[in-house]
Amino acid sequence: MKALVLAGGTGSRLWPITHTAAKQLIPVANKPVLFYGIEALVMAGITEIGVVVGDTAQEIQAALGDGARFGARVTYLRQDRPLGLAHAVRVARDWLGDEDFVMYLGDNFVVGGIAGVVQRFRTTRCGTRLLVTKVPDPSAFGVAEVTPEGRVVRLEEKPARPRSDLAVVGVYLFTSAVHRAVAAIEPSARGELEITDAIQWLIDSGHDVVAETIDGYWKDTGDVADMLEVNQRVLADLEPAVRGAVDSASVLLGPVRIEPGAEIVRSRIVGPAVIGAHTTVRDSRIGPATSVAEGCAVIESDVEFSIVLRDARITGAGRIEGSLIGRAVQVTGAARTPQAHRLVLGDHSRIQLAS
Ligand code: G1P
Repeated sequence: MKALVLAGGTGSRLWPITHTAAKQLIPVANKPVLFYGIEALVMAGITEIGVVVGDTAQEIQAALGDGARFGARVTYLRQDRPLGLAHAVRVARDWLGDEDFVMYLGDNFVVGGIAGVVQRFRTTRCGTRLLVTKVPDPSAFGVAEVTPEGRVVRLEEKPARPRSDLAVVGVYLFTSAVHRAVAAIEPSARGELEITDAIQWLIDSGHDVVAETIDGYWKDTGDVADMLEVNQRVLADLEPAVRGAVDSASVLLGPVRIEPGAEIVRSRIVGPAVIGAHTTVRDSRIGPATSVAEGCAVIESDVEFSIVLRDARITGAGRIEGSLIGRAVQVTGAARTPQAHRLVLGDHSRIQLAS
């Protein structure tokens, strides 16, 4: 069995971060979202992994390499334009051959892994197996109509009037029958070859499509609020460890991980929180639910419920919360009560100022 991991896409809801970085590489608890997916596949016993890449191919390749560090073998498959999930399957046709495979959307986050569903697919071999979960806003997803026995009778992509509250999770288990389906369908109104349409084609052609409800937490990390929520969720299970230096004037409360080379001086770290390698925190308060990546400096500032990417510097900034701060960003407090804000913001930046 192989896996097809989708790591293309533009990540427009995460601009400006995704102007310069692939959305799948935004860190959660200081580890890229994509790594959790690859690890889940390896845990499920799947080590032949095809990664579909687009414009951010270089960055994804630099991060995953040949997959050896995950115990996997990664092959890169180039999708020249983001023409849909079913299009990605078309791109991977030759590499997949006639093997069964898991398609895993690289921006999806599934707590608890997928070993169980892969095992059930392997033992029953009953066509296509989907994961679904109840959501409050089904119209944002593929929506499945499922019989009490778990048979999928209809799928719709982001319907205005959903017929059920079951969203299709971005983990799909296919046999080679799906190749006929993705070859048969036409682009949707948004101009993409939808995997939802391909699965509906399978249903209409008499193939078995079953769904099981996911037990644990799932999130499609589309925007900043999603990223912060997933970060909080993952940090909740953090193994505390202090590998950096914490001075006697500092306090660590709750589960806190301090990475090697980090330095905490006269500060309060409220867990769950992680402070990356070679990051300095001085005269500050961090957390809870906060990840600060490596090489950062947080000086005389207060950062809560946030993700700070590597090499950022936050100095005299007062209180920051619910924020995603990009790589090498500088946030500086004004020396006196500001009469004016001074900003250098990239395209599509979003900023909320206290007036
Ligand atoms: C895609 C699928 C959708 C599915 C979702 C899960 O949507 O088209 O059916 O529910 O992934 O993450 P997208 O995130 O590409 O809009």
